[in-house]
Amino acid sequence: MSVEGGPGKLALTVVSGRMEDRETLKFLPGPILLLGAPGVGKGTQAKALMSTWGIPQISTGDLLRANVSEGTALGKQAKAVLDRGELVSDDLVNEMVAERLTKPDTANGYILDGYPRTLGQAAWADRHLSGRGPAALPLIAVSIEVGYNQLLRRITGRRTCPVCKSIYNIYLQPPKVDELCDLDGTPLTRRSDDTEEVFEERMRAYEAQTAPVVEHYRALGRFEHVDGEQPVEAVTAAVMDAVRRLRS
Ligand code: AP5
Ligand code: MG
Repeated sequence: MSVEGGPGKLALTVVSGRMEDRETLKFLPGPILLLGAPGVGKGTQAKALMSTWGIPQISTGDLLRANVSEGTALGKQAKAVLDRGELVSDDLVNEMVAERLTKPDTANGYILDGYPRTLGQAAWADRHLSGRGPAALPLIAVSIEVGYNQLLRRITGRRTCPVCKSIYNIYLQPPKVDELCDLDGTPLTRRSDDTEEVFEERMRAYEAQTAPVVEHYRALGRFEHVDGEQPVEAVTAAVMDAVRRLRS
């Protein structure tokens, strides 16, 4: 029996008689950036990766909304910005990410959902997150791509469970019982920024400030893009394949 390592993976080779079974014991995903416009499915996919690889989803949007609903000083500062569909300042978001990354559940990796979103945030992330942590793995980026009309449908139809945070869509991924969470029966809620008007502003912010971030990671080469206009499970498989290739 021998144990092999490589960037991002540890594998155990079991030799028994003439048969050799190779079993991957532990895949180290490291830090993963999940990029894409509003509604491409970053949250949906991050939750799937999280349960497969046992690493946390860190959504800067979710962290900001939690601060808003708890009425913290940060939440009070951020609320109006979120409601307008604009971006919160880099310093505030970088600090929030830095604080979250001090938690021990990020040791084997984490999925940053919706961060970085500006070139300033990307510079901070490259400086502070790449090659850090026990596995010292570099950042890798996967961008999910979906056309405008489909995004609008996804945003206006989205519903979320306020308790377990499951994501639904009344047109595309409806719950079994109208407006109730399949898992815990809680009435689903709608995000206050999920209107057509705020979506358009979020798209403008994406094109102006986040599209250059996608190009930044594309140019660095530790980057793949995935067609997000497929069923959820097919997108998950494509994202996982992309991460494995980028870590091989
Ligand atoms: P954030 O919460 O990150 O919003 P977003 O980027 O606009 O993305 P969404 O959460 O709307 O979409 P998603 O890609 O997660 O899609 P989901 O999986 O839910 O940010 C909100 C705000 O916070 C920003 O506007 C900004 O103000 C601020 N902010 C956040 N991060 C910041 C940062 N780094 N810097 C500065 N400001 C920041 O899916 C969407 C819908 O589609 C769901 O209904 C789902 O069921 C459905 N769906 C998903 N996949 C599929 C599929 N394959 N087929 C059919 N339906 C699907
Ligand atoms: Mg999201």
